[in-house]
Amino acid sequence: MTRKCEAVIDLDVIRANYAIACDLAPNSRVIAVIKADAYGHGALEVTRALEGSAQAFAVAIIDEALELRDAGITKMILVMEGVDGIADLESAAKNNLAIVVHSESQLQDLEQATLSNPVNVWLKVDTGMHRLGINPDAVEDAVKRLRASKNCEFPLVVCTHLASSEDPDSEMTKKQIDAFDRSVHNLDVLESIANSGAILTTAKSHRDWNRPGYLLYGNTPFSEVIESPNGLKPAMTLKSEVIAIREVPATESVGYGGRWTAVGKSIIATVAIGYADGYPRHATDGTPTLVNGQIAPLAGAVSMDMITVDVTELDEVKIGDPVILWGSDLSVDLVAAASGTIGYELLTGLTARVPRRYLK
Ligand SMILES: Cc1ncc(COP(=O)(O)O)c(C=O)c1O
Repeated sequence: MTRKCEAVIDLDVIRANYAIACDLAPNSRVIAVIKADAYGHGALEVTRALEGSAQAFAVAIIDEALELRDAGITKMILVMEGVDGIADLESAAKNNLAIVVHSESQLQDLEQATLSNPVNVWLKVDTGMHRLGINPDAVEDAVKRLRASKNCEFPLVVCTHLASSEDPDSEMTKKQIDAFDRSVHNLDVLESIANSGAILTTAKSHRDWNRPGYLLYGNTPFSEVIESPNGLKPAMTLKSEVIAIREVPATESVGYGGRWTAVGKSIIATVAIGYADGYPRHATDGTPTLVNGQIAPLAGAVSMDMITVDVTELDEVKIGDPVILWGSDLSVDLVAAASGTIGYELLTGLTARVPRRYLK
């Protein structure tokens, strides 16, 4: 029996979501964030699908960028963590990659290297996230040094990252934008602040370049699951099927540790997906799945290769019936909320065992 678990990815939907990101901020250019294998959707397939429309791509690390260059992608690619050491810097220049410079040591490497050609630099400023970036009061001097360097291609971009963009009323976001604006005041540079949450809620953060990731894949980072705002649609549907069905008498338990106990006589369907596929092991009883399009709550702990769901209240369920774990009719964020995590983790955590099938 072939295992019927798969992630179906609609590339047209990703193209449409990219167009929505552009419409939401008509004066900004949009760099498509495709790090972490395009949030589990397949970096190369997504990049190829967007190559005709996207202005640029962003990855986290140089290896992700080089894979795309090796596959023939010629558009601008930004390495958002920048590079570590002169050898990687030379490789970035040779492969025409744009790089974030977020620290004094990266700045010094750039000043000291002998490169085949200048690189496009995005200078990162730490406006309050306290993860990467130089201090806001060091930006003016760093920009001067970059302007003096033969290794830096222009225009220069100054960027920052928001810590709480998923909260539309965040004071933190206001403070970060103010700190950013003070740091670039009177500097003739391009600017970049907004990720998905900020694109959707904070027009003040829309600058020369916006950097959406999660929304390209059709999801939103808000704590409440909001139905398809602005027409965004999830691009991935994670599917499997029922592989066993049994009646479980009242008071009997189901699965590892006997976590779920039948209150009355129950019908339990076993579905071919587990934590080794990336389905969250911490999913609680009641986490929704869709069996034949009807909600069936998780009943019992997630196993490595299987889950068990309660189909007692559903119309007759048979072996081979389709099950959706997340997708356009069941938000990944709902599953994440029931599992103590965020949809980002579920999408990026889908493992290689799950075949990706692309609709074009
Ligand atoms: C620097 C940076 N910019 C943009 C993004 C995209 O964020 P989102 O997926 O929330 O749009 C990320 C993602 O973590 C990031 O680290």
